[in-house]
Amino acid sequence: MRSILVPVTLFLAFSPLTGSSQGHEELNELELRVQETAQSFVKTLGSTLKSTIKTNGHEAAIEVCKTVAPNLANQISRETGWRVTRVSLKTRNPLLGTPDNWERAWLTEIANNPRPKNEQLMTTALDQSQYLTTLRFMKALPTGELCLTCHGKPTDIPTNVASKLRKEYPNDRATGYSLGEIRGAISITATISHEAKH
Ligand code: HEC
Repeated sequence: MRSILVPVTLFLAFSPLTGSSQGHEELNELELRVQETAQSFVKTLGSTLKSTIKTNGHEAAIEVCKTVAPNLANQISRETGWRVTRVSLKTRNPLLGTPDNWERAWLTEIANNPRPKNEQLMTTALDQSQYLTTLRFMKALPTGELCLTCHGKPTDIPTNVASKLRKEYPNDRATGYSLGEIRGAISITATISHEAKH
């Protein structure tokens, strides 16, 4: 089976523009930080969702996805200087969630490929120009039990949640998912600017 995990270390090793070991180290470190940030974003969001659902119910938890998720992404962006967003092939909020070409290509690839259960799906790409190195990273967000009440089939979604979603997101395309299906991804773009090398 073709692996869809792109080993970034290989990527970097063969990149002619990261010739110096300092460049290598800097990129490897950046990649690690980006991965950890994605991981903690997903964790924080998941636990906030869980606790809000537990104390205030699903309808109230819509606010978590609507406000807390974009705010958290913005906060990380301000702290790191990276672009942090959640993307999907079927968006609820097209303004924040519409993938660009690179994001769309990977989401399409993983949507169409069967894969082992619990596999951590991630991808990394590097784009280098004279003044900028751009590291792109995506981590897939599978549909868990928790997600079904707001992204599942009509029978999974409680009536009060469905009507609130209809009201707030008249163009919602983010329902009909089944357990384990890839709902979308967290996407991070980190840039390092550098002086031109001669
Ligand atoms: C309580 C309802 C609720 C639950 C539970 C929920 N979501 Fe969402 N989700 C939303 C709402 C509302 C939005 C739109 C947010 C916005 O306005 O930016 C959204 C947006 C998203 C997006 C951004 C792309 C898009 O469609 O606009 C992703 C990705 C996503 N959810 C994944 C998940 C995953 C994975 C889970 C389970 C861990 C989950 N959601 C659980 C309500 C929910």
